[in-house]
Amino acid sequence: MADIVVVGSLNMDMVVQVPHIPQVGETILAKEIHYHGGGKGANQAIAAARLGSSVAMIGKVGQDKNGHALLDGLLKENIDITGIEFSEDMTGTAFINVSPDGNNNIVVYPGANNHVDIEQIRRNREIIENSKICVLQMEIPYEVVKYVATLCHEKGIKVVFNPAPATDEIDDDLLKKSHILIPNETELFILAGENKPSAEKLDQAIEKVYKRGVKNLIVTLGDKGSIYFDGQRKIYFESKKVEAVDSTAAGDSFVGALVTGLVEGKSMEESIEFATSAAALTVTKLGAQRSLPTRQEVEAFIKNYNK
Ligand code: RIB
Repeated sequence: MADIVVVGSLNMDMVVQVPHIPQVGETILAKEIHYHGGGKGANQAIAAARLGSSVAMIGKVGQDKNGHALLDGLLKENIDITGIEFSEDMTGTAFINVSPDGNNNIVVYPGANNHVDIEQIRRNREIIENSKICVLQMEIPYEVVKYVATLCHEKGIKVVFNPAPATDEIDDDLLKKSHILIPNETELFILAGENKPSAEKLDQAIEKVYKRGVKNLIVTLGDKGSIYFDGQRKIYFESKKVEAVDSTAAGDSFVGALVTGLVEGKSMEESIEFATSAAALTVTKLGAQRSLPTRQEVEAFIKNYNK
């Protein structure tokens, strides 16, 4: 049985490299198109497995070419896929624009991911009950996320919740059942009930979200680093400076590395430092799963950084 279980999405990413992120009503020509394995759930599972964790995943794919390719990708990383089932619907697909400075925007058509249901969780509950950490995101139905968090809470399994994409349906009960909440800046402000992120209101948003019942809050801020807050200590972590090619899956890499650190017995601070390095390396390559670093790569990066 695996230490880490990820209950979440699998997508085929259709990535186009564009001269800039298009405006409303604008048509632009892309330079290149690539198909890469993605989906926040699968990315986080692979991120942890590539760093040496034992990982299982629960999710759904279509019975199509993309679904089989995504399963092959997980198998290559030694991830337990017995909890992944087939859906009649097509495999989830993400449409990603990447600009030359490495920024992106993403539209996801969930497809099979929308058919993960409570019955599937019941069929696979042993995988969850035998894990140490359960990782959740928001690309499968919300009622399933809630059900899994409640099951973990009852069984004493730590939930690491990445509220991506964030919506206002996320309630306090789910936040209270999460051991760690990891939003990015945009997601933090949505959870704080604010419509627009702003640097001036960051501390206020952190306090507001924390007061909803969060135990450990980590806000990822892209190239501005991250902030950890547990109600008493507020610690700022600087990002690692790298040449940005594509920021897709940097957050997923962070989550996968963080849970790897925690399962290995690293402290929260050590785990965040480790995750910061893994996320930085992810930004240096195009694509989601293909850009997630190995353990060796992260260790070499940490050794050579600042030299
Ligand atoms: O976090 C990046 C991921 O978001 C992409 O791989 C895409 O599939 C979407 O789920």
